[in-house]
Amino acid sequence: MITGASSGMGAETAILCSQLGASVILVARREEKLIEVKEKLEGNGHIIFPFDLSKVDEIEGLVKSIITESGALDGFVHSAGISSTRPLKMLKPSHLSEVMNINFNSFVEITRCITKKNCFNDGLSIVGVSSISSTLGNQTKTAYCASKAAMDAVVRCFAKEFAKDGVRANTVCPGMINTDIYEKFKDNAGDSYDAEVRMYRQYLGLGEPADVAEVIAFLLSNASRFITGSNIGVDGGMLSS
Ligand SMILES: NC(=O)c1ccc[n+]([C@@H]2O[C@H](COP(=O)([O-])OP(=O)(O)OC[C@H]3O[C@@H](n4cnc5c(N)ncnc54)[C@H](OP(=O)(O)O)[C@@H]3O)[C@@H](O)[C@H]2O)c1
Repeated sequence: MITGASSGMGAETAILCSQLGASVILVARREEKLIEVKEKLEGNGHIIFPFDLSKVDEIEGLVKSIITESGALDGFVHSAGISSTRPLKMLKPSHLSEVMNINFNSFVEITRCITKKNCFNDGLSIVGVSSISSTLGNQTKTAYCASKAAMDAVVRCFAKEFAKDGVRANTVCPGMINTDIYEKFKDNAGDSYDAEVRMYRQYLGLGEPADVAEVIAFLLSNASRFITGSNIGVDGGMLSS
C-alpha cells in the first residue's frame, strides 16, 4: 500500500514494486493521476483508492475497505506529503494542523489500523518518506520539519512495539529530489532560492524519484530484514557537507 502514489516518489515506488512482483494499492486524492500510474504498472491485482488523507478520522474506514478488497498487507509506504513555507509569525495553528495531519497524523493512523490482527502478513515493512529537513531544519519550514522529525521519531516506537509481530519500520530521508514538491518549493523561495549554494551541499546533484524508490524497495524487501527503527538518508551527500 502506497500513499502519495499519484506522483513523484510514491508513483515511482509503485512502478518499481510492480516490476518486482508486488500487487500495489495506490492512495492519493487525484483519481485521474492514480489511473495514469496504474496503467504503468506491471502485473495484476493493483487497486486505486482515491482518498484525502487530511480526513484522518475516516482513515479507519479506508483501511477496512482496502483490507477487505486486497487481503492482508506486506508493506506500507507513506509518501503522501505537502510542503509548507511560512515564517513563524504567519504559522497559525490551523496551518500547522493541516501539515501535521497529512504528513504525520495519517502515517500514525494508517499504521495503527494496518497493524491490527489479520491485517498484515508476517514480515510487514513500514516505510515513511521523511526528509533530510528533519535533521537540518530551515527558516520558514517549522511545520514541515516538525512533521518529518515526528515521522523519524515514531518509527523507532513502531519498530520496538511491533518487533515481536515480525513488523519493521523505518523512514527514508531524501534530500532535494526532482518532483512537483521540489518545483513548488523553488517557486515559493523565488529570488531567495540559490541553486548553486544548495547543490554545493548536495554534491551528487539533484536526485531523481527512482533514487529514492530503489531504497524504499530495499527496505520493503527481506534483504533489509535486520534494519528497523532507522532513518536512512538518501540525500546526495547533503548531511555530510
Ligand atoms: N521532492 C523533494 O525534494 C522531497 C525531499 C524530501 C522529502 N520529500 C517528501 O517526499 C514525499 C513525496 O513527495 P514528492 O516529492 O514525490 O512530491 P509530489 O509528487 O508532490 O507527491 C506528493 C504526493 O502526496 C499526495 N498528497 C498530498 N496531499 C494529500 C492528501 N491530502 N491526501 C492524500 N494524498 C496527498 C499527492 O497526491 P494528490 O495530490 O493526488 O493527493 C502526491 O501523490 C513527501 O512526503 C515529501 O514531503 C520530498
